[in-house]
Amino acid sequence: MTSSLPDSAEVLTKGHNLTSLQTFLLAEEQKHPYATGNYTMVLSALSLASKFIAARCRRARLEDVLGSMAAENIQGEDQQKLDVIANEALVRALGSRPGVAIIASEEDEDPIILRQDTSGERPYVVLFDPLDGSSNLDVCGSVGTIFSILQHDRRLGDVEASALQPGMNQVGAGYVLYGPSTVLVLTTGSGVQMFVLDPAIGSFLLVDEDVRIPDTGKSYSMNTSNLPKTEEPYRKYIDWANEEGYTMRYAGAMVADVHRVLMKGGVFLYPPTKSSPKGKLRLMYEANPMAMLVEQAGGKAYSGMTRTMEVPPTAIHQRVPVILGSSEEVDHVLRFLAE
Ligand code: AHG
Ligand code: MN
Ligand code: MN
Repeated sequence: MTSSLPDSAEVLTKGHNLTSLQTFLLAEEQKHPYATGNYTMVLSALSLASKFIAARCRRARLEDVLGSMAAENIQGEDQQKLDVIANEALVRALGSRPGVAIIASEEDEDPIILRQDTSGERPYVVLFDPLDGSSNLDVCGSVGTIFSILQHDRRLGDVEASALQPGMNQVGAGYVLYGPSTVLVLTTGSGVQMFVLDPAIGSFLLVDEDVRIPDTGKSYSMNTSNLPKTEEPYRKYIDWANEEGYTMRYAGAMVADVHRVLMKGGVFLYPPTKSSPKGKLRLMYEANPMAMLVEQAGGKAYSGMTRTMEVPPTAIHQRVPVILGSSEEVDHVLRFLAE
């Protein structure tokens, strides 16, 4: 008699294994015999905070936490109520983890030093944008969290110095997209994994263990209202792309826009403009983590003609231009910049 249900052996060979983020991290930890467990603790704090943020975003209108705080953050940007709630969730989750020495957030002027004494170990530095694209919330648009993980190296001097390491030194990076579903995209330095939150059981489940960005994709993601205020090579590139039949997609939240580029191919651009001559996006917790993810997925990430992860950091809230995405599409933009 044939059954309509697959038997256990069939389930296993079809790759239907059920892996949570926690299982994935424990398996990674086992590959490193000297692991202290601190790295896993950092990621579990990020996972916990992002579940909290996802739940608060979903209930934002019902809890009356949409809109602005009537205050500005350190960068002179209007602070949304949920920016503050998300920041607090991350600070509370990461602040209680023993392996974390410093946290730095878009919403705080200075990094928070959790511990100075680092003898005998290499604690972590976690930099984050708690809520990216937060003004999208008012219109029920997608928002996200972006994080970058560095590790303290005593050769750098005191722990403060370890917050300003180039993107090349990242030991992990990721984002969480709060959209129709909550998606966590992560790299720990060997490829990119994608997890989706199952709200019924409160777990991030692995859905793709080797995310690859397509090499091409005839689509660009840029706020083209900035074209008159940007540099000529960007205008020439957009003219060229339009003639070549490219399409434009722009959500106005970096996480949502980069996720689309990662899934479908294309290029994401935020060039320098007259009002933001160095670019708008922040190197340490927007450009660098996205660059690591995109490169780990087989794409490219540049800030002008310099590879983003090689830009020397000078300040926590430093801004840089961003060009990232499919390798061939980034090359097209660089071709115009090099002319
Ligand atoms: P944040 O909400 O964290 O300040 O980031 C907003 C950023 C980013 O998400 C997005 O790519 C960009 O701002 C959009 O800027 P424009 O509105 O200038 O296009
Ligand atoms: Mn942001
Ligand atoms: Mn933000």
